[in-house]
Amino acid sequence: MDRNAPIGVFDSGIGGLTVAREIMRQMPKERMVYFGDTARLPYGSKSQETILRYSRQIIRFLISKKVKAIVIACNTASAYALETVEKELDIPIIGVIRAGAKTAVNATRNGKIGVIGTEATISSGIYTDVMTRMRPGIEVTAKSCPLFVPLVEEGLRHDSVTDEIASRYLSVLKGRFVDTLVLGCTHYPLIRSTVGRIMGEDVTLVNPAYETAIELKNLLEEKGLSCCTDGEAHEKYKFYVSDLAEKFTVFATSILPDDVKRTEKINIEDY
Ligand code: DGL
Repeated sequence: MDRNAPIGVFDSGIGGLTVAREIMRQMPKERMVYFGDTARLPYGSKSQETILRYSRQIIRFLISKKVKAIVIACNTASAYALETVEKELDIPIIGVIRAGAKTAVNATRNGKIGVIGTEATISSGIYTDVMTRMRPGIEVTAKSCPLFVPLVEEGLRHDSVTDEIASRYLSVLKGRFVDTLVLGCTHYPLIRSTVGRIMGEDVTLVNPAYETAIELKNLLEEKGLSCCTDGEAHEKYKFYVSDLAEKFTVFATSILPDDVKRTEKINIEDY
């Protein structure tokens, strides 16, 4: 395997850019191919069967781009597809859940952890399972927040509507006195300040994107796959989507450290 090959990162859309951003920050030499499934978003309200089918198609696409490792930068796809697809691949693949769970378990002081995510992620129970396996006896309160994704997508990150909805969703977690809260959906780090204000400064917010980038870095080092050359900026990162390339480009430019020059639309059903 070529250690200078790109890392493949995928999500149901723009949310995984929060993971891509961390990889860019922590591993500035690495090349990346990002795919956002903007035509078929949201994944958070779909069945496991559908999410697995979508994930397999995207993995075939990324492999056609000769990636050396894959990051499922989507909590929902990590919850429903990772365990199956990792058995089918001969390159390393990681999701975002284990890293976030581990950080939360290490961060909690009172043993009460909250998790917020899409309906699919929360009903999979995966965060609760992983965290209670890591530390039996902890109390996990999980709450789906289905309106957060459309609010972020509509550009209402700093809006009173988002404040109001967040207060309603988060009241159950406050009532359970959680001292640590996992932002278990790719979009939620983008409303971190709102969530933090409502939960209060004593609650530690865990962004799995940050920890996932650390896990990836360690994995690449361990497998001798860390990149060792500097690439040209214009070809270092490539962005593909299944729909609305222009909209993606604007959003990606607003959250990534460098401007995104171009996003290519592909037909993911061909893979
Ligand atoms: N990327 C998804 C996740 O992290 C959120 C958006 C969606 O529902 O597709 O769960």
